[in-house]
Amino acid sequence: MDDCADIVIVGAGAAGLAAGIFAAEAVRERGPSRIVVLDGAKKIGAKILISGGGRCNVTHDQATHKDFNGSPHIVRNILAAFGVEATRRWFASLGVELKREETGKLFPVTDQARMVLHALTTRCEALGVAVLTHHRVEDIIPQSGDPERPAFLVRHEQGTLSARRVILATGGRSLPKTGSDGEGWGMARRLGHDVTPTYPALVPLVLHQDMFHAELSGVSQEVELTTQVNGRTVDRRRGSLLWTHFGISGPVVMDASRFWTKARGEGAAVEMRCHVLPDMNREAVDRWLKAEIAGKPRRAVARLVAIRTPDRFATALCRFIGIDPATPSGQVTREQRQALVQGLTSLRLPIERDRGWNYAEVTAGGVPLTEINFRTMESRKAPGLYLIGEILDCDGRIGGFNFQWAWTTGYLAGRSAVAGLNAPHR
Ligand code: FDA
Repeated sequence: MDDCADIVIVGAGAAGLAAGIFAAEAVRERGPSRIVVLDGAKKIGAKILISGGGRCNVTHDQATHKDFNGSPHIVRNILAAFGVEATRRWFASLGVELKREETGKLFPVTDQARMVLHALTTRCEALGVAVLTHHRVEDIIPQSGDPERPAFLVRHEQGTLSARRVILATGGRSLPKTGSDGEGWGMARRLGHDVTPTYPALVPLVLHQDMFHAELSGVSQEVELTTQVNGRTVDRRRGSLLWTHFGISGPVVMDASRFWTKARGEGAAVEMRCHVLPDMNREAVDRWLKAEIAGKPRRAVARLVAIRTPDRFATALCRFIGIDPATPSGQVTREQRQALVQGLTSLRLPIERDRGWNYAEVTAGGVPLTEINFRTMESRKAPGLYLIGEILDCDGRIGGFNFQWAWTTGYLAGRSAVAGLNAPHR
């Protein structure tokens, strides 16, 4: 192959492939250009294939800036350019019809993530976008001192490629064996960008071994989780918590985890508490316990608690707070009842650590959105460079939002990079 391209996209994940397609479609409207996507992996699309448990949760039927952690004003503007409806239509045009599940998550009707990857790569092929594997990029070196005529030398493991525009789509650090190991941030830094500290997000949490999680492994329950940093509540959310052999997981834990990892990474005092009866406040729980005890004083206390919680949780909680689960509830002391109220409404989760990058679905932190022109995704530091997807300091909650971010930012950068090629003097 020759060694120059109009647009080089670094990273053939969700964002990079979307950018390649949108750029090539825009080129069709504007004249011939060579678009090349370089990826270090042997095979592309690893994350798409494993996403959503192999079904790929492509997006969510309601995606707003509130579903993301990142500068809200900027996220809102970016999402406005290519939202859920546009995504749905785009996938339909690629031959992937999406269905909505009760939770609002959208999946391919076939429930097969490989259909999504296949559609993206087939479209790239049809549009003449070259997707090259085994092309790990090591550096991107600006070649022109003229911001009106940017040019770059892209150094990769097989040689070099010169480009008029570069789209950096190398992802974050989650699941590094897929090829997303954070090297993109080094390149972004060398091109003048800042990178905010990065932390695993959407990650399960490991509890202290003295906690009762292991006996509950496999049990899930609806809870409200509150995260406090230096005594201030930074996050409160409700959803399903899954007890596991190592600690806690499930959507509500995954969504809350980024607040914990960030605070811990910053060395702050962080605490997560769990309310297992989120429809009742403390007083209501106390009233309820009192009434149940008065009504059936001979019933075992664990059976009483199990009226509103999973059996195994009720037994484990009683033991944890020092009450024999078989104790007739009429014999429960006032202090024990108060300890139960505390355990049910504000159970402190003794988190040791997060489960690490191999289990994190996304990355919190990255290149600040303020360093990007949100209309185009072009860098404000290096003209002609565009940054998209997870490399940016924006992470969505669980439910298809992170892919939506990839599609949307890919759309903007792909089209804008082509417009930039054709703009007067550029
Ligand atoms: P992504 O990480 O996908 O791609 C980056 C690409 O760049 C990789 O192919 C990598 O090899 C390449 N690369 C990196 N450095 C390079 C270099 N120096 N040179 C060349 N290539 C380089 N989201 C969602 O919305 N719905 C879901 O169902 C799921 N499910 C899910 C499950 C699991 C297990 C994980 C780990 C993650 C998810 N996600 C998700 C999150 C989603 O997968 C993620 O947000 C997007 O894939 C991010 O897309 P990007 O293209 O930005 O990065």
